[in-house]
Amino acid sequence: MLEKKYLKRINKINWEFINADTTYLTHNFHRYSSKYIPQIAGNLIDIFSRENDLILDNFVGSGTTLVEAMIRKRRAIGIDINPLACLISKVKITPIEKTVLDKEIGKLIMSLKQAIYSVREQKTLYSFDKKNMIEEYEVPKFPYIDKWFQPQVIVELAIIKKYIDFIENKDARDMCLVAFSSIIRGVSNASSEFGNLMISKRKGKVTDTFERFVSKVNEIKSRILQLDKYKEFSKNIKVVCGDTRNLAFINDSEIDLIVTHPPYIAAVPYAEYQKLSLRWLGFSDRKLDKELIGGRRQSNDVVKRFDKDMLKAFEEMSRVLKDNKFCCIVIGNPTVKGKTIELNKKFIKFGSKVGLEFQYEIKRGKYNTTMGKMKEEFIMIFRKTN
Ligand SMILES: C[S@@+](CC[C@H](N)C(=O)[O-])C[C@H]1O[C@@H](n2cnc3c(N)ncnc32)[C@H](O)[C@@H]1O
Repeated sequence: MLEKKYLKRINKINWEFINADTTYLTHNFHRYSSKYIPQIAGNLIDIFSRENDLILDNFVGSGTTLVEAMIRKRRAIGIDINPLACLISKVKITPIEKTVLDKEIGKLIMSLKQAIYSVREQKTLYSFDKKNMIEEYEVPKFPYIDKWFQPQVIVELAIIKKYIDFIENKDARDMCLVAFSSIIRGVSNASSEFGNLMISKRKGKVTDTFERFVSKVNEIKSRILQLDKYKEFSKNIKVVCGDTRNLAFINDSEIDLIVTHPPYIAAVPYAEYQKLSLRWLGFSDRKLDKELIGGRRQSNDVVKRFDKDMLKAFEEMSRVLKDNKFCCIVIGNPTVKGKTIELNKKFIKFGSKVGLEFQYEIKRGKYNTTMGKMKEEFIMIFRKTN
């Protein structure tokens, strides 16, 4: 059971965070399905850690926990198996000098403007000739690209990607890749900008791919510039692209606090939802789906695999956490093949098997849950016992 000093602080907070601003600083510059709101991570960090403590989020997604740890002067490690998640997280916590950004972005936009306007003038190039286009513009080869994107969009995306790859400064290049990725769903023929990926027959002609990119890159740039005041602390935040079932690069009992948010079994098929971005960035959505905990969601053994993989993740979380320290897990109870799975109860069992003793559960209600369809979600507090 949690001591009074913690309970008092927990109970002071309204965990619904109705109307809270969830988009400050670098939060929210790239859509990421099932992000949690920054106030959850921020308050848990405030309650259960001190300045300079080392925080782990081993399902870091788009890096929400890392930003919150950075602004509170904590050290932090974020791990995710999804390369797009790692890219977004890294960019979110990496300040870049204004002079570098002005130079690199200015040069990029000027060269792109020339290249794209010149292609737009020769309208014939937009008539679709797959082979010609793929060779001329170095378009990535993926099945049905011409169904997902209109020809003029493919050409403009390919030109933008090619010029981004020329950027010398790696941090600026990664920032531009995030801007590039964030416009892809919107300029595709997909029926919505997030969630299920389906082709819309009603999508009008998209003629402003380049303009959307410029506007996004400028928005992200202005947010990155706000990181300047966290320069000192951002050095202590690391993103590792890897599998949380094996945290061999973290020593036993090295972590002061875990704040994390695992997949709700297969409720969000990340590889499927993010397929278009992953492919344009040169990553394999199929490989990712095989590696994700809760991946291959249509297979009959999805829940069994999830249980086995999560138990392994719990073992590692327990191993790396210091004795008596806390592990906070945000989770909801998804419906899989028509059946509700009570993940909160399962997690209590997993915890008890690996020395993470369940302490307390905060219920979040109908207002601001991470998963739109779920009525409630839980913030579960465990403590490492020896
Ligand atoms: C609910 S999301 C986390 C979202 C995050 N809290 C945020 O605000 O963006 C769960 C994450 O677990 C990641 N994941 C799934 N299997 C993993 C594995 N084996 N190792 C590391 N990360 C994994 C997914 O890629 C996804 O980003």
